[in-house]
Amino acid sequence: MKIEGKKTLKGEIKTPGDKSISHRAVMLGSIAKGETIIKNILLSEDTLRTIECFREMGVDMVIDDKENILKINGNGIHGLKKPFKPLDCGNSGTTMRLLAGILVGQNFSSTLIGDISLSKRPMDRIIIPLTKMGANIKGYNDKYPPISIEPSNELRGIKYELPMASAQVKSAILLASIYSKGETKVIEKKITRDHTEKMLEYFGKDKFMGKEIYVPGDISSAAFFIVAATIMEGSSITIKDVGINSTRTGIIDVIKAMGGNIKIDNVRSINNEPIGDIYISYAPIKGIELDKNIIGRLIDEIPIIAVAAAFAEGTTVIKNAEELKYKETDRIQAMVNEMKKMGADIEALPDGLIIHGKKELSPAIVNTYGDHRIAMALSIASLNIKGMSKIQNSQCINISYPGFYETILGLLE
Ligand code: S3P
Repeated sequence: MKIEGKKTLKGEIKTPGDKSISHRAVMLGSIAKGETIIKNILLSEDTLRTIECFREMGVDMVIDDKENILKINGNGIHGLKKPFKPLDCGNSGTTMRLLAGILVGQNFSSTLIGDISLSKRPMDRIIIPLTKMGANIKGYNDKYPPISIEPSNELRGIKYELPMASAQVKSAILLASIYSKGETKVIEKKITRDHTEKMLEYFGKDKFMGKEIYVPGDISSAAFFIVAATIMEGSSITIKDVGINSTRTGIIDVIKAMGGNIKIDNVRSINNEPIGDIYISYAPIKGIELDKNIIGRLIDEIPIIAVAAAFAEGTTVIKNAEELKYKETDRIQAMVNEMKKMGADIEALPDGLIIHGKKELSPAIVNTYGDHRIAMALSIASLNIKGMSKIQNSQCINISYPGFYETILGLLE
């Protein structure tokens, strides 16, 4: 994608449905009894993988991709069928890790596979606790996909302290606990997103009856526009109906602390999740040191925060973010390599980044490493650079945000 920068953003948008909530809604709707209707569901490459996996296991679903509605005729907790082939999770870590939590409780064997990026991501983080629960689950070299699962005689609840901040690991354990005897307790030292907990409560924990769900807009997608409007002079935009669950709003706190101009209004709650409208306008921003306790609340937003920092006055320090190395690509290295091509003053730390902001960067040809969030972060950086930049392999954006470039076009003045 070629991007000609230095324009202004004005107008009102909606970002697509939240990716994390969409995955969970498909999973819980599939094992609930009766009809679940998911409105404003994200239909992207990642969530379509989850949908296809459950179809493979005999769950009847109808997609309306014009209205972004998914109707699921749920099979009930014990109603999934043995899949005829390996379940392909594509690029989606959430699909693989959460689905494993459900599959260990089934009376059939299954295999989970993924693309090249997912095949290099650590799965021992779920294999270890699920094995402690009595699951029969194995990975390649005890660590990587493919994952193979055999039925277990009995799953039992566990008390488990998460060794890393991971909502996917927490969720895999909580989903396995649906099929376990006794209590399960997951202890997290650092906050991670709590959508699984909220949705389990909404579905009625033990009863699991089908529900109607409205998926709030994805704050991780909104983050690109929050930063874009903040750094692009003269901009002012509104993003309607965004999920503002406090485990996800670290980006708003950080941009405000940098001096950003953000307001949230029209706050209400929908199927146990808070939602609101966000107003952002251009403001000169300053570098800050991010608090270590905020990292779990903005882990997916660090690439776009790095872009904000590159245009801020002064220095931004991000530490305690080692988890970035285990995402779709090593996001620390990717941002350093590519932002340097744009002339940014950015250095890698073993667990984060140091960025010294500059007024102007220069156009460049940059790589995405097939990582959707790197692609979108670099696109926003290019939008604020005079001249033509090129984002190579930008189609990976479809993993979480089909329509990203159309939304930008609609806002350009
Ligand atoms: C997610 C949790 C996070 C996040 C990912 C989605 C989820 O991953 O980075 O994009 O939906 O639970 P980790 O659990 O690996 O931190």
